[in-house]
Amino acid sequence: MADRLTAAVFASGGGSNLQALLDHQSLDPPWRVGLVVSDREDAGALERAAQAGVATVWVPTRERGPDDVARDTLAALRGAGVDVIFLAGYMKLVPEAVVRAYRGKILNIHPALLPSFGGKGMYGMHVHRAVVASGARITGPTVHLVDEEYDRGPIVAQWPVPVLPGDTPEDVARRVLEAEHRLYPRAADHVCRAIAGGEEPGPLPWPDTRFSMNEHERNTGDQRSGSEDE
Ligand code: GAR
Repeated sequence: MADRLTAAVFASGGGSNLQALLDHQSLDPPWRVGLVVSDREDAGALERAAQAGVATVWVPTRERGPDDVARDTLAALRGAGVDVIFLAGYMKLVPEAVVRAYRGKILNIHPALLPSFGGKGMYGMHVHRAVVASGARITGPTVHLVDEEYDRGPIVAQWPVPVLPGDTPEDVARRVLEAEHRLYPRAADHVCRAIAGGEEPGPLPWPDTRFSMNEHERNTGDQRSGSEDE
């Protein structure tokens, strides 16, 4: 595909969402991961990238000002010819200069239905603990465009996931993560097609029930099986 966009994936942790994006590349999406950026030298995501033959860069953020972080980040992004950025478990605020340079071209996946359970300090298991403690019966991933604030930019896609009676935060995390792996590559395709066409992405059209639940899930209410039927 001639107009395929080059994506950078930013990740701080194990990188299962990065893996879902890399796996999706076999379907020839309108983007290709050309760089993986991490604030942690020991991030599992960097190992996954290396395994896949993708260039990596470690940009530390601890005890560094946002200007230094932005300068190193932008140099790496420009060096790799990056067009779009997918945050995948990146736990730091993207510096303002990077947001400005890539406005409308940075996506994040958050493990709850924003605008609930978002904002500073709401990441990873903190989110799922808060969801279970609240008594919410529904949760799920949100993909949104990134602006200068944590978890605030326009929502592109969401996927409802039930919170079942007796669920622990770990049960919820597992179920939401499965949905993230299915949702994020589709949302990335949607946004990249719009960008390549010079349009505003807008929301991902609401999927039919086959997309949000597979046959087994519809019949039993059990989202744990996660078989791909769409
Ligand atoms: C994912 O659940 C992602 O939504 C979350 O961190 C996890 C990373 O998992 N991100 C946030 O909480 C950001 N606010 P992964 O490293 O296996 O992709």
